[in-house]
Amino acid sequence: MNVLRTKSIEQSLEDTEDVEFKLKKGLTALDLTVFGIGVVIGAGIFTLTGKVASEYAGPGVVFSFLLAAICCALAAICYAEFASTVPVAGSAYTFSYATLGEMVAWIIGWDLILELMLGASVVAQGWSTYLVTFLDEIGITWPSSVGPADAADFQWGHFNLAAVLLIAVLTTLIAIGIKESLRVNLVLVAIKLFIVLFVIIAGLFYVTGANYHPFIPPAADPIEASGLTQPLMQVIFGIEPQTFGVLGIISAASVVFFAYIGFDVVATTAEEANNPQKDLPKGILGSLAICTVLYMAVALVITGMVPYDKIDPDAALASAFTSVGKDGFATMIAAGAVAGLTTVVMTLMIGAVRVLFAMSRDGLLPVGFAHTNPKTGTPVRITLTIGALVAVIAGFTPIDKLEEMVNIGTLTAFLLVSLAVPILRRTRPDLDRPFKVPFSPYLPILAALVCFYLMLNLTVETWLRFLVWMVIGFGIYFAYGHQHSRVRIAEKESTSA
Ligand code: ALA
Repeated sequence: MNVLRTKSIEQSLEDTEDVEFKLKKGLTALDLTVFGIGVVIGAGIFTLTGKVASEYAGPGVVFSFLLAAICCALAAICYAEFASTVPVAGSAYTFSYATLGEMVAWIIGWDLILELMLGASVVAQGWSTYLVTFLDEIGITWPSSVGPADAADFQWGHFNLAAVLLIAVLTTLIAIGIKESLRVNLVLVAIKLFIVLFVIIAGLFYVTGANYHPFIPPAADPIEASGLTQPLMQVIFGIEPQTFGVLGIISAASVVFFAYIGFDVVATTAEEANNPQKDLPKGILGSLAICTVLYMAVALVITGMVPYDKIDPDAALASAFTSVGKDGFATMIAAGAVAGLTTVVMTLMIGAVRVLFAMSRDGLLPVGFAHTNPKTGTPVRITLTIGALVAVIAGFTPIDKLEEMVNIGTLTAFLLVSLAVPILRRTRPDLDRPFKVPFSPYLPILAALVCFYLMLNLTVETWLRFLVWMVIGFGIYFAYGHQHSRVRIAEKESTSA
């Protein structure tokens, strides 16, 4: 049984020309950067900043955002090299098929679907919460029986109509076309950027220097956790997550990592880019750089406006303005969050569709599934399937409990992509690499180690859930994908000819 067979880069590129499975091109570097910002800036900055500043790091949270950005940048550089060398839909899945073999590729694809689908569902629920808050502030009451459920006392049978409506609209849009989707994305990203810049600029007028003393509050007691809720690191090495002090900044970095998730999704649209070799690295690194600067600025402003131990851990941005008597600004921030989270959900769904598309086109899932519609140039069947799944998860389950699963899924993909860079350099030194990672193999290895370190900070519970998902994935691969793989069928045909 050959689970290590690889799909040649040439074959991957050739498949993209097959009319039955052809995606429509048309994206520029700017489209890709906007797409990146659209998916990255979301629930993370609107909610995590306050939680992390008040519980882990104080104003030092600015450094946490920087640290998390450096980790992401290491992985992003590796993604950029791959995306410029193998500009094919499917991102990390396609890269690993070319280097680490079919089974690892399957694992990555399966893992990305988890990351992207759960991510879209979690953020869709967050979106419904902001929608209800926003409507409330302008005097409209959304019926609570079909609104977001309270996580603490969730009852099965509850229906979140708001989240389902959002998914239905976005699924239709994504099925209509990528260019159309990105046009809507552009408008929403503009609103989101306006609100983030507004928070930074308006907030500057209320910054009090005294709130920055101490900038790094002295170390306090570690966070208590036991059983399934403790980080794997604590179980293996006995190291507890620290609060405040320099170690608190590091603990906080692994939490705010969530805020950066998504820039890798840019690589899933490789086939739809006009000039992927040049534009994908620009889109990936450009969106990451812009988000880093904005995040650090927001963190600096919020911790300057409110003493860190008084920051509201749930809605820091809006509360900071309420605390200085600017209630009207809070309404605007809620509106910005509604617009902002819409683009995150849409982009994560586009990513999930493209990965499933690449896997089906390769025969690891039924090939017929991947057919693109000649009019729209999009894989309509897959789009509707992903839409239905995300709608069910977001509409009927208490998904927010699984937020960490998104982190573990992303980090696994980062880790494998980083390792795959030096491998492909060795196995295919001849390939044209318009963008190259400097200091390979040291930088990719460092990237992989950093990702692994962040994974160790996730809870035992998350690791177990992740393992269960992987076991299901292996089951499907050995029951179906392994036999139906188009690479396998081609190999068999060439040996029998
Ligand atoms: N980075 C995305 C967010 O913060 C997932 O919502």
